[in-house]
Amino acid sequence: MNIIILGAPGSGKGTQATRLAERLNLRHVSTGDLLRDAVAKQTPLGKQVESTMAEGKLVSDNIVLDLVKGAVTVHDPDDPWDGWILDGYPRNSAQAEELEDVLSSARETVEGVVFLDVPGDVIVERLSNRRTCTECKSVFNLLNRAPQVEGKCDDCGGDLVQRDDDKPETVRERLAVYEKETLPILDFYELRYDVHRVNGTRGIDEVTDEILELVSA
Ligand code: AP5
Repeated sequence: MNIIILGAPGSGKGTQATRLAERLNLRHVSTGDLLRDAVAKQTPLGKQVESTMAEGKLVSDNIVLDLVKGAVTVHDPDDPWDGWILDGYPRNSAQAEELEDVLSSARETVEGVVFLDVPGDVIVERLSNRRTCTECKSVFNLLNRAPQVEGKCDDCGGDLVQRDDDKPETVRERLAVYEKETLPILDFYELRYDVHRVNGTRGIDEVTDEILELVSA
């Protein structure tokens, strides 16, 4: 099963994609995680995208397409996955069209498109309280999923940090980019797929259960 998960920054895409990947045995392809990893390792790609990400803007379409293409079309015979879940891509209409072309050339199909609906005021509160593990990338929230030991990851004991782009001024820019560039691609998907709109303000478990029900129907 192949799934695309859409939604604003902080709507819970990463949280839900991680859970769905585990439950459905899917490869979790997160462009944000791949880019942050490149920045942390200071690879040539990481150095190239670092300032754009810190400003909350989108990195160039070619760069992200290169990151995503292989993950959604190349399947090693030893691959343990039963499909993939794409989180953070596409982000604008050019990426949405490119993805359709890439998938159709590879004869890949998309079985579920999920849109997490969360209002702006909830997003700002969530992002200012998000903490991410520097080691295993687990995501916490000081308001509703606080770590047991302050500053330490429950899963691996690694240090928890606030993402550079979760500063209030960068969150404002990310939301503006989302409204202008990403939100319009919902129309693109609604013309082609049965988009599952999910109320993402409910508890994490409830949201997961609803998505599982919708994509399995
Ligand atoms: P990316 O990492 O994709 O960031 P994003 O889309 O802004 O999304 P986030 O990771 O901020 O949020 P999320 O929806 O995953 O929410 P989460 O589950 O963490 O991209 C970062 C940057 O990379 C971009 O700005 C851009 O520069 C670049 N980039 C990436 N992809 C690109 C592309 N395709 N093209 C160009 N550039 C690209 O949850 C947020 C918080 O809320 C957490 O603390 C969580 O615990 C909490 N939470 C989650 N669900 C709930 C719930 N139901 N109730 C209460 N709290 C919840």
